[in-house]
Amino acid sequence: FVASDPSALAGQEMEIFFLTNGEVAYLQRGKKPLFFNKKGISIQKNGNFQNLPESAIAKGKFEHFMLKEIFEQPRVIKDSLVDRYDEKNQTVCFPEITFDQKIFQEVSNILIIACGTSWHAAYIGAYVLEQYTNIPTRAEIASEFRYKHTVIAPKTLVIVMSQSGETADTIAGLREAKRQKAVTLAFCNVKGSTIDREADSTLLLRAGPEVAVASTKTFTAQVMLLLLLTLKLARERSVMNEEQGRLFFHKLYELPEQVAEVLENRDAIQALAKKYAKKEDFFFLGRGLLYPTALEAALKIKEIAYINATGYPAGEMKHGPIAFLDEEVPVVIFLASGSLHQKIMSNLMESKARKSPVIAISWKQFEKDIEKHVDDIIWIPKTDDMLSCIPVTVVTQLFAYFMAKERNRNIDQPRNLAKSVTVE
Ligand code: M6R
Repeated sequence: FVASDPSALAGQEMEIFFLTNGEVAYLQRGKKPLFFNKKGISIQKNGNFQNLPESAIAKGKFEHFMLKEIFEQPRVIKDSLVDRYDEKNQTVCFPEITFDQKIFQEVSNILIIACGTSWHAAYIGAYVLEQYTNIPTRAEIASEFRYKHTVIAPKTLVIVMSQSGETADTIAGLREAKRQKAVTLAFCNVKGSTIDREADSTLLLRAGPEVAVASTKTFTAQVMLLLLLTLKLARERSVMNEEQGRLFFHKLYELPEQVAEVLENRDAIQALAKKYAKKEDFFFLGRGLLYPTALEAALKIKEIAYINATGYPAGEMKHGPIAFLDEEVPVVIFLASGSLHQKIMSNLMESKARKSPVIAISWKQFEKDIEKHVDDIIWIPKTDDMLSCIPVTVVTQLFAYFMAKERNRNIDQPRNLAKSVTVE
């Protein structure tokens, strides 16, 4: 069999050979394949055994892969934690990292390179990493990074994030980082992909194959890895003590239940989508790490429902976009932050004053503050501020999904999009 992705061969127990650029495989019926390098010289290649079950790429009881993948997220969160808790030292272990982990003590900067949804996860990671480790961190869009002559400072850790591991711009970013001799760490869902092979080390997302073009569970898996890396760095550099490390883990272990609670609310989210299905423009507003969360919410609704949606930092609305608001433009606002609550409340009032229908995704504790001012509310369980991006995202994934369903879109394969963007 010849395939562009190992998951095409799910359900078959077989040896898989990955070709790198320029290599050629010569196949003959009933014979072992022969391999040649780009100069035409015969080479030996080692295969990897795979036995991905067919169920991993079947829809099961779900109508679409996207819905199935949204519902897999409690499992994905649990899997991201398996064997990673070093209870003795209240830290994280990443045995799969093969480069010298001394870099975690020495690193002066962190640069995260990614595209699309992976970039949104990266952006969330940049907020969390900087806040909890005190290491200057930034997230760059790979297609910008590759052409802007960024000078990577010495002792920078470069993290390259890609679900597929085959995104052309992200690969180019990785190669540029390597050219500048940075240590590179990939977060990737596909073992054997180009990014997995070329980065110095890889942390696999353990999300299982993601079939729907719109990324959902891999976003969550990426955020989980970034949170774990944050804890690892904070403990290595003694920015967090043992007790704080223990508490951090405790909060992560609570997440699967909290996400399951959001999923149980699917009917309320579907009803909301029905109510707003005819609207053509949406704003998603958040502050702090709920700002990149708003970017992701807007991307999801654009790509699968083909509705114009803008994710914006709530405090920036008054610098222009607020002029666009009126009764035809719903504003979805995220009230899931303890530290920024009063600030986001004033942005909620600004939107209401422009007559926009306001939909809150909120913690119950803010009920009294908001009930008189909003048109609709989806409650989510209370988490720590740093984790609220995950339950909020799950609500917006379901909202986008049901909006797309209302509009009869091709949910798993939206027009003009591909799962792996292997071209510039
Ligand atoms: O495979 P990657 O994570 O590198 O893909 C990056 C983007 O192409 C991808 O996230 C895209 O934005 C998705 N369609 C989002 O749902």
